[in-house]
Amino acid sequence: MIVENKNFWQQEAFVWEGFALDRQSHWSKRSHFVLRQLKELIPTPGRSLDLGCGPGYLCSLLADCGFDAYGVDISENMLSRARRRDARVHFARGDEKELPFSENQFDLITAFGLLEYIENRRLYLSRVVELLAPGGILVLSNSNRLSLFVILAVISRILRWPWHFGEDGWRQTIINLGRSGIWTGGMINLDRAEPICSAAALDRQARARGLERVAFFGMFNFPWIDRYSRLRSLQKSAVGRWLLRHLAWNYIAFYRKPGLRNEI
Ligand SMILES: C[S@@+](CC[C@H](N)C(=O)[O-])C[C@H]1O[C@@H](n2cnc3c(N)ncnc32)[C@H](O)[C@@H]1O
Repeated sequence: MIVENKNFWQQEAFVWEGFALDRQSHWSKRSHFVLRQLKELIPTPGRSLDLGCGPGYLCSLLADCGFDAYGVDISENMLSRARRRDARVHFARGDEKELPFSENQFDLITAFGLLEYIENRRLYLSRVVELLAPGGILVLSNSNRLSLFVILAVISRILRWPWHFGEDGWRQTIINLGRSGIWTGGMINLDRAEPICSAAALDRQARARGLERVAFFGMFNFPWIDRYSRLRSLQKSAVGRWLLRHLAWNYIAFYRKPGLRNEI
């Protein structure tokens, strides 16, 4: 059974706006880290699309960098906050069944915290790759099912340390982790997700669609590790790269579509 998640995301709009505006939150940091890495990969900004854009924070950052920015979300409440924030960005309602764009349009497509909520992830990825222009960059975040964060949360629960999750969220969290690879006690939209629950699985799906991975990093959801300079230095050693790929809570990968990019 697929649980309709639209209402869930309608109610979540103010929560995600709070995350976006708090510079110390995992989600705000993720946007800023990605932007720093993107500056090395895309020297001249073109047209960008953020899928599952929420209240539009990343879209605004991309517009600040000179991108002609588009954002899509399933939730009207998210979109109305996004529109209030930034009139420069083109926002549209859309979901996995309806992406109101034609092929080869975007030089950059981003999707953070979204794949986990998509039922048919493989089909969705194929459609997204079609929207990407030759030479364009796709940046995806994905949850690692067995991250350091998850392992410590489970241990702390077994040992009854008062850390992170109380009774309420526990059962649902474990169910969601099994179904979708995502560590959340909140509702997710499906109970038969196609699992892409590790860095290796995401890379495999990208490779199968002809994409080449050009960069990656991971975020652990621990503020003391998740500093840009620390994550960059982890990338310098083989052990560090292994940790980023396999034990990070969020694996964030940058893929390039083959072909030459049309400079704007
Ligand atoms: C976890 S939040 C992430 C928000 C933002 N990308 C970020 O990283 O801060 C997931 C977002 O995806 C949207 N969403 C959920 N399912 C979706 C779907 N099938 N199609 C488009 N957007 C969806 C939600 O409304 C929400 O804004």
